[in-house]
Amino acid sequence: MKPTILLVEDTRKLSEIFKEALSGCFGILSVYNLKEAKESFISKKPDGILLDLQLPDGSGIDLIPIAKEINPDCVIIVATAHGTINSAVEAMRLGASDYLEKPVDLNELIEKFEKKINLAIEKDKVFSKDEMFPISYSVRMHEILKICRQVAKTNFPVLITGESGVGKDVIANYIHKHSARKTFVPFNCANLPFELAESLLFGHTKGSFTGATENKSGLVESASEGTLFLDEIGELFLNLQPKLLRFLDSGAFIPIGGVIEKFSGARVIAATNRNLYDEVKKQKFREDLFFRLNNFPIDIPPLRERKEDIYPLIKFHLISLSQTIEKNLLISDDAVKLLEDYSFPGNVRELFNILDRASIFCEKNVIDRNNILKILEFKKQQMNMPVKEKKTEEFEWDLEKDLRSVCKDAINIKEKEFIINALQECKYNKTEVAKKLGISYKTLFNKMKKLGIE
Ligand SMILES: Nc1ncnc2c1ncn2[C@@H]1O[C@H](COP(=O)(O)OP(=O)(O)OP(=O)(O)O)[C@@H](O)[C@H]1O
Ligand SMILES: [Mg+2]
Repeated sequence: MKPTILLVEDTRKLSEIFKEALSGCFGILSVYNLKEAKESFISKKPDGILLDLQLPDGSGIDLIPIAKEINPDCVIIVATAHGTINSAVEAMRLGASDYLEKPVDLNELIEKFEKKINLAIEKDKVFSKDEMFPISYSVRMHEILKICRQVAKTNFPVLITGESGVGKDVIANYIHKHSARKTFVPFNCANLPFELAESLLFGHTKGSFTGATENKSGLVESASEGTLFLDEIGELFLNLQPKLLRFLDSGAFIPIGGVIEKFSGARVIAATNRNLYDEVKKQKFREDLFFRLNNFPIDIPPLRERKEDIYPLIKFHLISLSQTIEKNLLISDDAVKLLEDYSFPGNVRELFNILDRASIFCEKNVIDRNNILKILEFKKQQMNMPVKEKKTEEFEWDLEKDLRSVCKDAINIKEKEFIINALQECKYNKTEVAKKLGISYKTLFNKMKKLGIE
């Protein structure tokens, strides 16, 4: 039997066009408003929905949670009109798999449904409405998320491992969100002096060291009803490790300078991008603590080993980015292909970073193969460059973070700063600058003009 798609589209003519395009591969149910859509979904449980958001009796968004509740595997593709990008973000958060901008490319539409419905059927995945973040499409990530949901209900310590940028923080948050615990208290074990690390974690009593003017409770105590996330656990001082182990075993700890044991019910999630067992062998990490934490390990595979996640992550990030920079960003298929073939040593963080950069230099808001190619080439060159000059670091400024929090004007300022730095570094040789920034001479010229750079 063919999989069924519910067409929710109030413009009848358009609905007919979609029907004609899709009926070769799918059984089609057509409805024209939200009420009919809900009824039809409940009674027929289709495998996919093509969803128009602006319906005469409400927003198509309202159908998503219902559909996902009834059939978590349902593939929902949203058809958005230009300018309703915010709704597309919301739809993806609620569980839509993808979105297409109207006028919809019919070949793309068929291809997306074919690819996604087959994948969804193959995977037989369990997917409920509150699991939309982290974005995941690969079988491996789905398995991981399932384990996370299971362990979330327990109080076991968890050890999350994986290369830098794979999403360890995201997964720690996900576990916390699926538990009934109250606060999420993150602590980074790296780069702190010993006393400070101990005091921040376990607290101190008045007079226990110079400057300890009052009793202060630590994060272990603050997270008593919550989750204590110990990031970069591999960096935790060897001398602090027994104290943490004792806490994990019994919930007991003594603040610096204290004599009375205190107790906390904090649940510990630890993360590291190191191979902790190697650290044990090098005697930099205690074996007993390792085994205690490793009782429940979650290893997140690098992005290059779950390529199916790349496209959904691209889509997700472009939607968020479009909102931030108030442009409607798109990406060409060959640019996606190039990214799918890339190895991403920096994983999801690197992917987002590449998209951030490309979004600045792309023309007509479409990221194309050339934009990506230039960024990748530039990266390759940088890897071979001796890392000494300060200016090079400035090229590596963290766009990802910046772009999330700044408005369009601020982006222009950053962009200007970025270009001026490059100009100075290349002694105002524009051909050289364009090469360095991975853009064409013309784009550089236009940008300089737009940004008022003489
Ligand atoms: N599955 C995902 N869905 C959406 N965003 C993701 C996902 N995985 C990672 N990210 C994003 O990628 C970036 C890096 O993720 P995160 O900080 O969790 O990685 P990490 O493994 O903790 O890295 P590090 O080892 O450097 O601490 C963040 O912006 C995060 O939001
Ligand atoms: Mg992290």
